[in-house]
Amino acid sequence: MSHDVLVIGSGAAGLTAALALAEHRRVLVLAKGSLTGGSTAWAQGGIAAVLDAGDTFENHVRDTMIAGAGLNDRETVEFVIERAPDSIDRLSKLGVPFNREAGDLHLTREGGHSHRRIVHVNDATGWAVQEALLNAAKANPNITLLPGRSCIDLITGRHGRTYSGDGHVWGAYALDEETGRVEAHVARATVLAAGGAGRVYQFSTAPRGATGDGIAMAWRAGARVSNMEMMQFHPTCLYNLDVKNFLITEAVRGEGGRLINPRTGKRFMEFYDPERMELAPRDVVARAIDAEIKRFGLDCVHLDISHQPPEFVREHFPTIDEKLSGLGIDMTTQPIPVVPAQHYTCGGVIVGLDARTDLPGLWAAGECTESGLHGANRLASNSLLECFVFGEAAANDILDGWDDLPEPPAIREWDESRVTDSDEEVVIKQNWTEIRRFMWNYVGIVRTTKRLERAANRIRLLKAEVEDYYGSFRVTTDLIELRNLLQAADLIVQSALRRHESRGLHYTLDHPATDPVAKDTVLVP
Ligand code: FAD
Ligand code: SIN
Repeated sequence: MSHDVLVIGSGAAGLTAALALAEHRRVLVLAKGSLTGGSTAWAQGGIAAVLDAGDTFENHVRDTMIAGAGLNDRETVEFVIERAPDSIDRLSKLGVPFNREAGDLHLTREGGHSHRRIVHVNDATGWAVQEALLNAAKANPNITLLPGRSCIDLITGRHGRTYSGDGHVWGAYALDEETGRVEAHVARATVLAAGGAGRVYQFSTAPRGATGDGIAMAWRAGARVSNMEMMQFHPTCLYNLDVKNFLITEAVRGEGGRLINPRTGKRFMEFYDPERMELAPRDVVARAIDAEIKRFGLDCVHLDISHQPPEFVREHFPTIDEKLSGLGIDMTTQPIPVVPAQHYTCGGVIVGLDARTDLPGLWAAGECTESGLHGANRLASNSLLECFVFGEAAANDILDGWDDLPEPPAIREWDESRVTDSDEEVVIKQNWTEIRRFMWNYVGIVRTTKRLERAANRIRLLKAEVEDYYGSFRVTTDLIELRNLLQAADLIVQSALRRHESRGLHYTLDHPATDPVAKDTVLVP
């Protein structure tokens, strides 16, 4: 099946790229599972943009670099932040119903931001954005949307299944989840927008499909990745034995929510960051909660916004209020039990300002990339923004250079002659659970070299087992995800072992100091 451009992923990054490309080219968008299955649909807080007269781009740049602990690339930070107001404008024109007050966009506040600058749709911004982008894509005759396709690998000269030999990417092999057939989707240009790897951890706010497929596919095809040790833990995920991954937006703290130790009944952020308190960057707040939980032997801490008027709370956080009411918690009068959980993959496939990766024919955007924007810790609500800016950048670069892109060569069909149906699905479930558990226990918020080495040893054993399984049996989505999850875990642990300092999200008891000069951890395949 051949289109001009293949886009892998139907979240904010993929659909932004597709819509811009479709002005001139025919685009195929593939998505694993449903078209709304990525993190985009779950985003709550909003999108950061300088829109207030009292705010400046320089303020937003400074806040981003403070949160990122100096590991950010300043040129990238400026590139993204200066394009934020235009991105918001385009989304408004697509019909995203951002909250307004007296005609102006309402700006909320989140941790690490020195000003109110978060544009939002109540506390369900992601859903509104996903819906608007998807409706526009569905209405565009140049875009074909194919859900239910799990991409297995990029088609490259290195792959051994094609006739070209130069590492050029010519699309991807994808499993049709319904028929079980593997299709070759061939294109002159491919945009990877497959999201993060959050599900490598036992507790994560990310949806089920965030298994690092994009990062693993690019790595196997020969692209470098960087800063994979910088895994972000959100401080406030709902603590509930039945509901495992429901986020309580940082905007609750932005609008006055206080963190309380349930044992002492006291606010505790004053012991960790007395100036910024609950609005310190995420790494600081998540570590503080982790320390309180460990020190007092708690299950969770409390987030309390009950001192605000009930109508204010319900109006600002209708989605959270509804969810909590269903669980018997009234957030207007009661505290919310919360724990930290994995939330965002700061590292990923290295891209330039034109969204190009190392591989000819492959561009990438969104959470699967490392663009230099986030550094050692992403500032709240900068992620959707990165998707819009880099989705657009990828499209512009592909369109500008279209005439120089070579035609794809003949591509071989997927070869299934040496595999059979699996007779032991239990291997997948067992390994999946094992990875997520040791990543949480050994490669979590606070690390040590010994724990990282333990994780590395287990990954070595599991890799041999999973590769053997992959080589013997027909692919399924579960197997594709397990293979990628393991690859992502390996990249995270290898990167963490190479960083001999504590910076941003990477905190290790063996190297607590921060080096004077910030350096990226770059892994080369
Ligand atoms: P995603 O939206 O995750 O989309 C990935 C796409 O790739 C999906 O369509 C998926 O099906 C597809 N895919 C994956 N693997 C394959 C494969 N093998 N084959 C085919 N398709 C594949 N950021 C903010 O800026 N503001 C917020 O308020 C905010 N809130 C958040 C709340 C939650 C609960 C979470 C989890 C994240 C939040 N984030 C927020 C982060 C932000 O939502 C994500 O970083 C962003 O949406 C990622 O967009 P993306 O397009 O890169 O990937
Ligand atoms: C949140 O609403 O707290 C999430 C915001 C983000 O991840 O940027």
